Amino acid sequence: MNFVGEHILSVAQLNRADVEEIFAVADKMTPFAHRERITRVLDGAVLCNLFFEASTRTRLSFGTAFNLLGGSVRETTDVGSSSIVKGESLKDIARVVSGYSDVIVMRHSIDGAVAEFAESSRSPVLNGGDGSNEHPTQALLDLYTIQKELNARKKDLDGLRIAMIGDLKYGRTVHSLIKLLTLFRNIRVHLVAPPDLNMPETMIAELHRVGHEVQHFEQLEQGVQAVDVLYVTRIQEERFSFDAEASEYKGLFRINQAVYSQHCQPDTVIMHPLPRDSREDAQELSVDLDSNPNLAVFRQSDNGLIVRMALFALILDVVNKVEDHSTPVGWFTDVRKWD
Ligand code: CP
Repeated sequence: MNFVGEHILSVAQLNRADVEEIFAVADKMTPFAHRERITRVLDGAVLCNLFFEASTRTRLSFGTAFNLLGGSVRETTDVGSSSIVKGESLKDIARVVSGYSDVIVMRHSIDGAVAEFAESSRSPVLNGGDGSNEHPTQALLDLYTIQKELNARKKDLDGLRIAMIGDLKYGRTVHSLIKLLTLFRNIRVHLVAPPDLNMPETMIAELHRVGHEVQHFEQLEQGVQAVDVLYVTRIQEERFSFDAEASEYKGLFRINQAVYSQHCQPDTVIMHPLPRDSREDAQELSVDLDSNPNLAVFRQSDNGLIVRMALFALILDVVNKVEDHSTPVGWFTDVRKWD
């Protein structure tokens, strides 16, 4: 696709060449994300972040990505502080906010709400997660991370074996990731979930359509064997009608170092879109894995920055101008330690 001026609402808009182009641009963004160089290529541009549902990573990484390209960020962080509470329609908000901004990122609790908003927006809109439908930029950063982790292990995306674990019914990140996997060859997917939280049939059909192998597991210990990547998800309690219903599933699948050592290949990559639920009754990804070098969850969240910088650069047509507007960092010392 020609990204310039386009909305990014679903990964279904992308083909394999598009994904590879995003990843190539993301690689170019790394020195800027790591503060080795600075660029002002989006000086004067404004991003509006409209987050009508809770977020840490997506909102902050989109905002930081835009700032690192030289642009400014305005944001709404919940429904209560927006005029939605006065009955304003998404259509009107889109018309208004797109007058203030060159690009908009939106998160909403209702499936399809971001696409509805985009229809009335004069600026490009990126879907920051809509209900249990999709989270396209998360899936892109997940796939970018998988590729990097596999390459470091002398493997590639074609031939990937991945276990998706947890709430596969409501988890929007896995829905987008499944669609991206259909662009690659010879994939085996283990779906590890209780029957009531399994992947929607339409998505399983997509995997079958392209010839991927799909296996279902209700036992965690079986599902995590003989794969390259564990993709662990949280029970999406905010999507259940009753808290009690979500509680039935919390803590059902817990990956900790003992499970990993006993049942996984020694170099299995451990991923999670985060936030992981660290409360006593959940702990789907134990903190005792934090010293395991195969835990990629924080490399994953770091990658969110460069993938989102790449999307802004493509959509606002500045990929080839980033270097022209850049200088070495001379005014502060990066005191962080990068992985
Ligand atoms: N992965 C993700 O979407 O995290 P946030 O909900 O914190 O944005």
